[in-house]
Amino acid sequence: MKNAEPVASHDLSAALGFLHDRRSVRAYTARDVPQALLAQLLCAARAAPSGANLQPGRFIQVSGTARETLSNALIHRVRGGHEEREDYGYFPRPMPMLLRKRQVAAAQALYGALGIARGDEAGRAAQFERNYRFFDAPVALVVTIDAAFGAGGYMDLGMALHGLQLAASAVGMGSCAIGALASHADTVRRVLDLPEDQHIVCGVALGWPDGDAPVNQTFTERAPLHTWFDVRDGLPPASPE
Ligand SMILES: Cc1cc2nc3c(=O)[nH]c(=O)nc-3n(C[C@H](O)[C@H](O)[C@H](O)COP(=O)(O)O)c2cc1C
Repeated sequence: MKNAEPVASHDLSAALGFLHDRRSVRAYTARDVPQALLAQLLCAARAAPSGANLQPGRFIQVSGTARETLSNALIHRVRGGHEEREDYGYFPRPMPMLLRKRQVAAAQALYGALGIARGDEAGRAAQFERNYRFFDAPVALVVTIDAAFGAGGYMDLGMALHGLQLAASAVGMGSCAIGALASHADTVRRVLDLPEDQHIVCGVALGWPDGDAPVNQTFTERAPLHTWFDVRDGLPPASPE
């Protein structure tokens, strides 16, 4: 391994720019993604660390009639108001106020970019349905994990997912994870003929960003560093034995 010199502070933002530049992309051009390029991005994702190098999860590309049938089935379920059991829990229930505020801010960023007003239920529903068309991206992926994995496996898979998104961003492509898919896990399994022991984690849309699309002007913020970084230096006050 070569000796890595620390990056000078003035170079730091340039060096880490690809991390800061990645954003969720929800509209794409029709430009094709060659399978060889997709394979390279997936190899980058696969480079992610994982506990005991177990490398959990699978990325399943859905295309052609499989994709069309899947999208149609999911939209049918959504329009019918059908609820399905999720394979894994995601959001805290109930949602604490601080997190609820972040959720609302993210929704406002999205719907604000699209010019969808607060009470415009039809506009929101139409955008929500776009999740199930993988935002018409040239590449649609379904991410699964073996049901036997616990939270650690999901953590590992999340790192691979981030790797995929960063790799895409680094070559000028865009992506969006689609957790909405996990709300209809049984439908995804049924249409794609996946076994019951494959849990549905999320979808991924991948392709070349449509720079003119208003939805791609969605900008989210991050919580101040001190709210999720803390230092313990020294011992807590002595507690009675
Ligand atoms: C696991 C996961 C699931 C997500 N699911 C959805 C989704 O279903 N629909 C959507 O529009 N965005 C989805 N997103 C994108 C988030 O809304 C987005 O990452 C967040 O608002 C931060 O914005 P940024 O990605 O542009 O930085 C998801 C992101 C992650 C990591």
